[in-house]
Amino acid sequence: MTRDITNHLLFEVATEVAHKVGGIYSVLKSKAPITVAEYRERYTLIGPLNYNSAQIEVEELPVKDPLIKQTLDSMSERGIRWLYGRWLIEGAPRVLLFDIYSAGHHLNEWKSDLWNIAGIPTPDHDQESNDAILLGYLVAWFLGELVYNDRERAVICQCHEWLAGVALPLCRKRRIDVTTIFTTHATLLGRYLCAGSTDFYNNLANFDVDSEAGKRGIYHRYCIERSATHSADVFTTVSHITAYEAEHLLKRKPDGVLPNGLNVVKFQAVHEFQNLHAIKKAKINEFVKGHFYGNYDFDLDNTLYFFIAGRYEFRNKGCDFFIEALARLNHRLKEAGSKMTIVAFIIMPGKTHSYTVETLKGQAVIKQLESTIEEVQKKVGERLFEHCARFPNSPARKDNEVPSIDELIKPADRVLLKRRIFALKRDGLPPIVTHNMAEDATDPILNHIRRVQLFNKPEDRVKIIFHPEFLNANNPILSLDYDEFVRGCHLGVFPSYYEPWGYTPAECTVMGVPSITTNLSGFGCYMEDLIENTSDYGIYIVDRRMKSVDESINQLTDYMYDFAEKTRRQRINQRNRTERLSDLLDWKRMGLEYIKARQLSLKRAYPDKFKNGANPFNNQSNLKLTRPLSVPGSPRGKVGLMTPGDLGSLQEAQESLNTEDYIGFKLGATNGEEDEDDEHSHYPL
Ligand code: UDP
Ligand code: G6P
Ligand code: GLC
Repeated sequence: MTRDITNHLLFEVATEVAHKVGGIYSVLKSKAPITVAEYRERYTLIGPLNYNSAQIEVEELPVKDPLIKQTLDSMSERGIRWLYGRWLIEGAPRVLLFDIYSAGHHLNEWKSDLWNIAGIPTPDHDQESNDAILLGYLVAWFLGELVYNDRERAVICQCHEWLAGVALPLCRKRRIDVTTIFTTHATLLGRYLCAGSTDFYNNLANFDVDSEAGKRGIYHRYCIERSATHSADVFTTVSHITAYEAEHLLKRKPDGVLPNGLNVVKFQAVHEFQNLHAIKKAKINEFVKGHFYGNYDFDLDNTLYFFIAGRYEFRNKGCDFFIEALARLNHRLKEAGSKMTIVAFIIMPGKTHSYTVETLKGQAVIKQLESTIEEVQKKVGERLFEHCARFPNSPARKDNEVPSIDELIKPADRVLLKRRIFALKRDGLPPIVTHNMAEDATDPILNHIRRVQLFNKPEDRVKIIFHPEFLNANNPILSLDYDEFVRGCHLGVFPSYYEPWGYTPAECTVMGVPSITTNLSGFGCYMEDLIENTSDYGIYIVDRRMKSVDESINQLTDYMYDFAEKTRRQRINQRNRTERLSDLLDWKRMGLEYIKARQLSLKRAYPDKFKNGANPFNNQSNLKLTRPLSVPGSPRGKVGLMTPGDLGSLQEAQESLNTEDYIGFKLGATNGEEDEDDEHSHYPL
């Protein structure tokens, strides 16, 4: 059937729509403003309904589009519950959240259908796969009815990750008249193999994928992922490194790479983000004073905050490297007699039973001390004022313009202060973890810290705080949102072994916070391909490909040590340079690859419309929307196309990505033009 492709509808399906888990949520949320600008009401995000998150993140709205309404009403008549509304984020995209459990009674029927049509077996006990099946069948049901009701408009359905991929084989088998894109943000096998002790990257081409998936009990999930990959009209990943991995593990060369962007909000003046750093750092300082009570013997002016954050994947996220390198850094700083102290935070949610008494007590005793001092200060002020104001006229005071300290701080105040100071005494060392861990004895992070003996001893120059919960301004301890915390820190450390993209260092960059990543992360490779001397711009890349484990850890230690050696002035300058890179990561630029992928999917479904080089999107009305997006700023000195290994092939609809495209190319150097001391010079764009 031929449809109107210029006014097509776009649906993006993912399990993290209005429900935060990891990076996919960040993709959808940060991309929303540009996608909404391009599509307006023609764009809807679809996901499973999670009542707790939806309550906070979604405002219900009536369905305006009559054909979507007709489709949803008909699903309601068959007992399906859903929530349609506006996601309360910038761009306010429309979301359609299905209560997948309202279709729970269909599960067995759908599981056997999946087996019959796609040969995908699914065991009973795997809730994640069961949920994926429910979501997939609901999406296919919705799309099938919608394109039956709506014979005019073309429909693009883009599914993110295997959990949202079941709809793809269904669309294909049922010949639903939509065109599809599957974007994978990792591969299941990649994640599992890397989490073990496999030499993953050297053996990528040789794995017996079925048997490896079987050994790990994920064969059925792998089947879903692979069938989504092969059923989609267009297959994409988030980085070249994951494209290479997908080619070998999922057996399809991606058609292109859609790197992740961010919604970059620039301040009017450069110093504003520097001020924010100082303000947020002061909040972290407060926490640190409480946490180290009784052992607070270091100088906060000479203290740096390093951190790692993300889902708790010990080896994949490089937490093992971080702790090991911190131990080496501690040793080197001690040997060098450094005056610097490093407080290293590990923010990774684990199984916990709330905050420890020690952690809560630390903050309490410091707060009490603070308020006692405020009281005393007030009284001292009043006494001082009285004394000075009366001075010339009061005979008792005529030889003493300024009162002695004993006159100002009375014995009762001293007693009070002493009590507060005694409350700061403690027997043990400041704890390495803020929470009671459910599995304390076997927790990999705790055990690694114990092995390297980073116990927050007074002589240690590197202190460690493991906060096994994502940050939130409503937490009673360290009450900061994650982005506020990042701003207050000095260096993000993300030495990942498996990281298809890695939002955490990218987020640091746009906030002007230097970070360490690796050449095994999509982001690290992307920046390395785009910029010469990334470390000048506060992006340090640890080589985890060509170096041995020991060498890589030493390189990481060197980076941290050199950073600790910087003066405040140098840190401020570096933050300015880092922040200048943010334009490179803006969705206004990155979103172009999404546009190309969508055009390719339309071209594959409606080749006639693109015959003889015609491009239906080149007419006036469309250009109005897409022009700003398709003319992104590019770094000076650029050779070739916008993104490394730029996928001309996406638009051309020729072959898939060439393997050679995985190897990006370099951009010209900055010619050493950046002035170390010039806080106001601009990254040349
Ligand atoms: N994050 C967060 N709170 C925290 C720590 C991390 O919200 O306390 C977010 C962070 O902003 C990032 C996401 O978690 O956007 C992690 O995404 P990434 O791509 O780095 O890794 P993934 O979890 O997807 O593997
Ligand atoms: C920002 C503020 C400065 C402050 C500095 C501290 O640049 O604008 O007022 O001195 O941060 O930097 P540091 O790296 O020592 O935290
Ligand atoms: C995945 C990857 C992560 C990536 C994110 C968003 O969860 O683990 O590296 O940044 O998806 O694409």
